[in-house]
Formats: sequence, C-alpha cells, structure tokens
Amino acid sequence: MRKTHDAFSQFSQNMQLIFTTHSPTETQELGYRIGKLLKKGSIVALIGDLGAGKTCLTQGIARGIGIDANQVVNSPSYILINEYTGSCPVYHIDLYRIRDSAELDDLGLEEYIYGHGICVIEWADRLLESLPESYLKILLSHAKTEDTRTIEIINVGAEYTKLIEGLIS
Ligand SMILES: Nc1ncnc2c1ncn2[C@@H]1O[C@H](COP(=O)(O)OP(=O)(O)O)[C@@H](O)[C@H]1O
Ligand SMILES: [Mg+2]
Repeated sequence: MRKTHDAFSQFSQNMQLIFTTHSPTETQELGYRIGKLLKKGSIVALIGDLGAGKTCLTQGIARGIGIDANQVVNSPSYILINEYTGSCPVYHIDLYRIRDSAELDDLGLEEYIYGHGICVIEWADRLLESLPESYLKILLSHAKTEDTRTIEIINVGAEYTKLIEGLIS
C-alpha cells in the first residue's frame, strides 16, 4: 500500500484537480482547505480574469492558514503587497496594475517568493518565469451561470503533490 503511494508521489508530477463552485462561500471553503495544506515557503499562483474569484479564494486560503478573521483580506490596492500574520507571514500580492517587466523588477518580489512566508499571487501569469520550479498553479474562470466558477488546481513541479493528494481525500 505504502509502496503504491510513494510511486504515486514520485511520478505524478503535474497533477490537476478541477472543482466547480456555485457561490463565493463555496470558493472560500475550497480556499480554506487549500490554506490548511500550505506550508512555510509555499507559493500559490492565481490566474484568471477580473471577477473570476482570485481574491475570494485568497480569503479562504488566509483563514485556512490561520489568519484572524479581523484581518480583512482584500486585494492590495496601491501597495500591491499586503502582509498578514498567520502561523507564518503571508504575502498577498496582486499584479493587476503591473504594466511591464521593469515595474515588476522594481517590486523586488524575490524577497517574498524566496522568503520564509507563504505567497499568494493574483495575476501570477505576469511573473510565471520568475517563479521557482515548484508552485501551486490555480486557474479560475467563469462557468455556466453568474455564480459558477471553474477552479483548476495544478501542481507545477513535484513539491505540491501531497497537497493535491490532501485535497482529493
Ligand atoms: N462561485 C463564486 N466564486 C467566487 N466568486 C463568486 C462566485 N460567484 C459569484 N462570485 C462573485 O464574483 C466576484 C469575484 O470577485 P473577486 O474574488 O474579487 O475576483 P478577482 O480577484 O478574480 O478579480 C465577487 O463579487 C463574488 O461575490
Ligand atoms: Mg482580486
């Protein structure tokens, strides 16, 4: 049994899970489950259009990490990075307003991405090349009805295999 499990971890490098949520609450609940499984140094790359639910999912993730409900988790507006304190520092980064790679360089995101906290990055498609080889990629999109979202969770690199397994069970 254990052997099967090890083989699963070793070879399933790009696993993908697809969820459909039917309300903001359901998206937050999924985020909560993800947040529970994150560790110091984890990187969550959120990709999806405006209104796809990236901030909503982040709110759930933040609760799952143990961020107190009185620390309101909203998208960073002018400062682009909000820091929260949970079981470890949590950096909520939003690259919506980033126009080019020079602006991105000015932000000095390496400090956060290669630091000891957890990074949750909205509009992460704008910096995919700068991410380490392992990260959790989450694609969000509008689905059939106004309140339905498709949320695709992919582990890039081997590091997040266990997290994906945790979400299945
Ligand atoms: N299933 C759902 N999941 C997440 N948000 C939803 C869902 N259904 C409706 N919504 C609404 O969609 C909007 C998502 O906004 P937000 O999370 O800020 O998106 P983004 O950060 O991707 O721009 C919110 O107004 C939320 O109430
Ligand atoms: Mg947002």
